[in-house]
Parts: sequence; C-alpha cells; structure tokens
Amino acid sequence: MRFKKPRGTQDFYGETMVRWAGIESRLADLAKRYGYSEIRTPIFEMSELFVRTVGEGSDIVSKEMYTFKDKKGRAMTLRPENTAPVMRSFLENGLHRSGGMTRFFYIGPMFRYDRPQAGRYRQFHQFGVEAIGSSNPAVDAEVIEMSLEVYRMFGFEGLEVSLNSVGCPVCRPAFRETLVNALEGHKDELCGDCSERALINPMRIFDCKECVEVKKKLPVITDHLCGECEEHFQKLQKILKDLDIDFVLDPLLVRGLDYYTRTAFEILRPGLGGQNALCGGGRYDGLARDCGGGDVPAIGFSSGIERLLENLPEKALAELGPKRPDVFFIIAGEEGASMAMKLAGRLRREGFHVVCELSGRAMKKQMKTASEAGARFSVFIGQDELEKEKVTIKNMETGEQKEVSMDGLAEILR
Ligand code: HAM
Repeated sequence: MRFKKPRGTQDFYGETMVRWAGIESRLADLAKRYGYSEIRTPIFEMSELFVRTVGEGSDIVSKEMYTFKDKKGRAMTLRPENTAPVMRSFLENGLHRSGGMTRFFYIGPMFRYDRPQAGRYRQFHQFGVEAIGSSNPAVDAEVIEMSLEVYRMFGFEGLEVSLNSVGCPVCRPAFRETLVNALEGHKDELCGDCSERALINPMRIFDCKECVEVKKKLPVITDHLCGECEEHFQKLQKILKDLDIDFVLDPLLVRGLDYYTRTAFEILRPGLGGQNALCGGGRYDGLARDCGGGDVPAIGFSSGIERLLENLPEKALAELGPKRPDVFFIIAGEEGASMAMKLAGRLRREGFHVVCELSGRAMKKQMKTASEAGARFSVFIGQDELEKEKVTIKNMETGEQKEVSMDGLAEILR
C-alpha cells in the first residue's frame, strides 16, 4: 500500500522549501529588528486552554480542533493558534512579575480541521508576534505597522488594513442586548448557523459569509463603545495617520476568536476571494485573566505563511529561489571521485557552494545536470586530469575552458 499525506496537509521540498526557509529567516530578522525574541511552545496543549480563551462558541473550538485523549485520559489539542499558548507560557514562567513589556515572536505549525481549499489547510503555519504588558494604543499602532512590514518587505502592493474596535467587557454586554433586540426582527433572514449564533454569541454573526444583507441592517459595536474604548480607538487612528498608515474602518470586523478586546485588524489582499486575509490580529487585554493570571494587556497578530508564499510577488520569488552552486564537479572513474571529494571539501571550507556528481553516470549526463542546477563553473576530473594533476574548469556562462593546477582552483573561483 502506498500511503498518502492526510487531507489538507502539504509536503515542502525543493524550491518551495528553499523559499520557505528564506521567508522564515527574513521574518525572524524583521521581528528581532522590532525587539521581539523567539518563543517555542508545545505543539499540543490541554484542550481546556483553547476552550476557555478562543471560546466555546467559536468555529475553531466547536468544529475545528484536533483533540485527543492521552494515555491518562486527559483531553489534549493540537494547537489551532498560538496566542493562548504564549500567554499560558508567559504566566506559567512568571514573566509577568518582571513588569514592563515582553515581546515574543513565533513561527510554526497550527492545526484546524476545516474544509481544505485554496489558501486553507488543516496543518498550516503562522508567523506571529505578541506584545505583552502595555495598553498604550501606540503599541497597537506599532504592531499594525509591523504586520504591514511583513508584506512590504517581500514587495507586496495594494494591501488593505481593515480596522475595528470590538469593545471590552464594559461596553459589550449592553451592545449584546441591543444586538439581540435588533436580531428579533430578522430571525427569518439568518442562516442555520447564525440562528444558533444569535443565541450563544450574537457578535459572531458579523463573521458569517452568508448573512451579508442582514448584517447591513444590524447595529454596530463602534456606535456603542464605552468612553475608554472610544478614546483608545481614536488615539490609535491618530497615531496610524501620523505614521502615514492607511486603514479602512470596518465595523463588521469581529474576528473568529473570543479573546479580543478593543483593537481588531486584518491585512487583506483584495481580489484573493474567500481567503483574502493574509494576516489577522488584535488586542486581548482579558486573555491573561482567562488563563488564570491577573490583568495583563497585550496585542499581537499572526500571518499565514502559506498565504504569504502563494501570493509572493515575482521579484521576491526569484530572490528567495535556490542558490546556484559555485562549482559542479564532473567526474570520471573512482579515483576521480576521491580527488573531487578532497578538492570539494577544501572549497567548501572556504565558503564555496560545491556539488560533486557522484552518480557515476556518463559525463554528458553529468554536464546536463550541472547546467540545470545553474552552476557557475564545472570542473572536470578524468584520467587525463589525474595524470597531469590538473583539472579542467569551465565557465558555464561564457563556455570558456582552461586547465588549472588543483591548488589554483580556489583562486580562480574567487
Ligand atoms: P487567525 O485570523 O485565526 O488569527 O489566523 C491568522 C492567519 O493565519 C490568517 O490570516 C491566515 O493567514 C492564517 N490561517 C488561519 N487559518 C488558516 C488555514 N486553515 N489555512 C491556512 N492559513 C490559515 C489567529 O490565529 C490569532 N492567534 C492571531 C493573533 C495573534 N491575535 C493576536 N495575536
């Protein structure tokens, strides 16, 4: 039996893997330039962590979690997102005691049992940052700026920042009541899922892709923010304007996770269809409390790496492509192989990218492989070369060819 990978997952290798690694390294670099340090948390956590924070009524928790029982019967879940695990770790390791701000970034796999389609997978990868410890709207602005920089640095254009405030536990209960009352008049127009949502978590109706017309008739949270949320939202907008960051206010943007308070945002690539959110984030000032800690304000975002890679502009695609070998050794005979490996070793220690064709195939075939790999030079080692203790080096671009001493190779390459 030939096995197949699970539905909604991918194998990464070849050019894609090279680009993937390049993207990860540039993202880590970007995060460090903003003062973030890396955090790695387990791939699985106690299910309760996500139930309590992402929310029981959310699609992620109610439909999409990969949950299993371990041998002691404890419910564990492959992490569907990483904000709650980072907060869990922050509190568990006592980092809240040091005061001030903690800035973490992460890159890694997340798991959601969703219907796979273009840009949507069951195992996908996120680059994310979490800025923990400040409620200053300037931090919101910095995080939004950084999320844009993720895409700008790869040459993306025409992105849209969609921005909203989803309020806080002070203003939300009253809004919820207003919303529930308004929904009374539109019961028959709601889809099946939203009829249920209306009872459990009515704000989630704003996330529905089907109930477009009803949504337009409903009251919006931004008209019902408490004084502090309103002030925070206005300050954030002012800072964004000062930083020349364009944004579009979208009072229907609620995001699919329950922990958000105040700022919610997404980076959209118009024209991408259903999966047009490249990145999403927001403030989660109540999450620490939901995780058993005190009041620790925080904000962050996550970018889907698959969506980044799949929409990468041409220039970045080329820049992040595989490196061409400096030298490709084309070898005839066993003695030739040992000699090539010795010479290659010396060159690699000097920093050159060297491939030895050890397949033992005909020289012509080896030559073809060297040219397909885009090697700058090929070096022939055959009987003739061994006898003369010289090698023949060929410039693959000009076709120019000459004999050089084995010791003189590095000099020529330089
Ligand atoms: P999220 O909006 O659920 O937020 O996911 C963030 C990004 O992950 C999405 O914009 C998308 O690029 C990518 N993504 C999500 N689901 C999939 C999927 N099934 N396949 C491929 N890509 C996907 C969060 O996860 C929050 N933890 C973000 C955050 C961090 N909020 C505060 N800090």
